[in-house]
Amino acid sequence: MDLKKFVRDIPDFPVKGIIFRDVTPLLKSPQAFKFAVDEMARILSDVSFDCIVSPEARGFIFGAALAYKLGKGFVPVRKPGKLPYETVSLEYQLEYGTAQLQIHADAIEPGQKVLIVDDVLATGGTAEAIGKLVQKLGGQVAAMCFLIELTYLNPRERLKGYDVRTVLKY
Ligand code: PRP
Repeated sequence: MDLKKFVRDIPDFPVKGIIFRDVTPLLKSPQAFKFAVDEMARILSDVSFDCIVSPEARGFIFGAALAYKLGKGFVPVRKPGKLPYETVSLEYQLEYGTAQLQIHADAIEPGQKVLIVDDVLATGGTAEAIGKLVQKLGGQVAAMCFLIELTYLNPRERLKGYDVRTVLKY
């Protein structure tokens, strides 16, 4: 299946000069959504891990679907002020602006192997920040998996040392 047919390009969103890769058509198609999650599982078949960690909001959609499919637990990473228990925070650089992410302080057991999942890998800032949060809690990043990689932003430069796997490259 040509998944790129289900990804809509929106120029100049949310700011001028950015092409937003809109996955809502893909999510709306039962066949494309299933194929996308199955593809993520397929390219990870040799990776062993204990749980999946994903950031809100779009990361939750793919991370939770993959966790359910593979029978793993799911850990949410959220924007500040959303998680109710004790949190660990990290500030990071976005494709557009800066932001902060939080994770529950007890979300990952020391030594646990974690798979980081998100919809889009753009600058790599979000994934890098999540990697640091996981390591702060004593977890190990087994791999990172994304539906879409924006290769022209060179995200792998920031993610050296991580096993990065992606389904679609632009
Ligand atoms: C998008 C996307 C990734 C991140 C990728 O999320 O879902 O999480 O940006 O960009 P980066 O590689 O440059 O860090 P966004 O912050 O737009 O949040 P949303 O999913 O809540 O819309």
